[in-house]
Amino acid sequence: MTTREQYDGVLILGAGLAGLTAALAAAPRKVLLLSPAPLGDGCSSAWAQGGMAAALGDDDTSALHAQDTIVAGAGLCDPDAVAVLTREGPDAVRALADLGAPFDRTPTGGFSQGLEAAHGRARIAKVGGDGAGRAIHNAVIAAVLAAPHIEVRTGLRARSLLQDAAGRVRGALVEAEDGALIEIAAAATLLATGGLGGLYAVTTTPREVRGEGLGLAALAGAVIADPEFVQFHPTALDVGADPAPLATEALRGEGAILRNTDGRAFMKSYHPDAELAPRDVVARAIQSELAAGHGAFLDATAAIGAAFPHEFPAVFAAAQAAGLDPRVQPMPVAPACHYHMGGIATDLDGRSSLPSLLAAGECASTGVHGANRLASNSLLEAAVFGTRAGAVLRDAIDPATPPLPATPWPDLPDGALVGLRQAMSQDAGVVRDGEGLTRLLGRIETQRELYGEGPVLAAARLVTSCALERRESRGGHFRRDFPSQRPASRTFVTLAALDARRQAA
Ligand code: SIN
Repeated sequence: MTTREQYDGVLILGAGLAGLTAALAAAPRKVLLLSPAPLGDGCSSAWAQGGMAAALGDDDTSALHAQDTIVAGAGLCDPDAVAVLTREGPDAVRALADLGAPFDRTPTGGFSQGLEAAHGRARIAKVGGDGAGRAIHNAVIAAVLAAPHIEVRTGLRARSLLQDAAGRVRGALVEAEDGALIEIAAAATLLATGGLGGLYAVTTTPREVRGEGLGLAALAGAVIADPEFVQFHPTALDVGADPAPLATEALRGEGAILRNTDGRAFMKSYHPDAELAPRDVVARAIQSELAAGHGAFLDATAAIGAAFPHEFPAVFAAAQAAGLDPRVQPMPVAPACHYHMGGIATDLDGRSSLPSLLAAGECASTGVHGANRLASNSLLEAAVFGTRAGAVLRDAIDPATPPLPATPWPDLPDGALVGLRQAMSQDAGVVRDGEGLTRLLGRIETQRELYGEGPVLAAARLVTSCALERRESRGGHFRRDFPSQRPASRTFVTLAALDARRQAA
């Protein structure tokens, strides 16, 4: 049986950094924040190891940060979105510090800042070496739990968006752990559901994060931007774990070297910047060494050695759990799905193409990351654009139109999901081609016929179809059959448009 609830405020789906900061910024508006998992679990923000990039140093400016972001984005960044991110970044970091996020400090009380690949300045604000995500997230959770305008309910998973007769989004149909369905109507709805790492067999993100927010918005008719642009982190620990533990790129920033089984440092033969080459270049180099049977290992024994446990405690714990001692032993690594640059197309304040539906964080696409995200810009994006979306929620006018009854979209059975994840890694992964993407799309269409299209399949279809249509290589999207670039253009697409193109083909 489905029950209906009219909530006297706004609805936020997702409790990562974007959802939490939006909830705080919506004050004094009443906010109902829903999460499938207990707060702090099941979201990528808490797993971030790098930190937050922001021009906080005397030698740095927002313009320099913007320039690095735009270069990384390989021609597809929206310059207005980048300007907002980099201009509002320093205040976003200070605001999180004010909430209690324990950023590493210099002896004079400033933010100590690290350097990461493709940043022209040391501008990464960190916490305890590699613990930024968890520490920042915990501070914001504490603030949310203390905020009288926010109600948090966990154990609820969104199964559909509610819409009125005019297509306006009026809330969500959610499912409780006991299977009960509840239609929750609200003045406005923000999706902050994270990325889609769990669509891939090898991912650094929680498995449960598999494009469901993106898929729900797409199934409701929202415009989706750049779904083909997926970032693969070069160095996940290749220890058979699912998800794969991340070995932060700060390790390479500190001098760790990539070697093959023979001990040869191979990066110089792929790029003059070697270990500090752009993330997609390093990922393809490692993939190529692995495919050739040479193996790939991250060797931090000389660069970090005995300091490993206190400089990189999270990576050290993951390595130890896998029986490795990175102080004295190189660690096996492989690329893993890490971040989705594409998402629900939004303006600079989180508004999607559907009235009363907003999106922020990794499930959204403001265009800020272009074709490739610059390291440590993701937590920053969540905080900056989450806060901006929260201000829109605060002022949202309840349309007071009744939502139409909704039914849950079909779920993909577990066995089918396992096969889909393998196929996504193989055919829509680090290196793609027309043959593999066509095969994958055929598999997705078959699953669609067998099980019906729910949000997970919709997300997979968007990534795959748009990767097939993009006949060039750019940023995170590499086609071995189209290795060069064409004139830059972003993708804006709906599921209906994909269906129409398929029928016309
Ligand atoms: C890392 O620490 O290598 C990941 C940071 C990021 O993805 O921004």
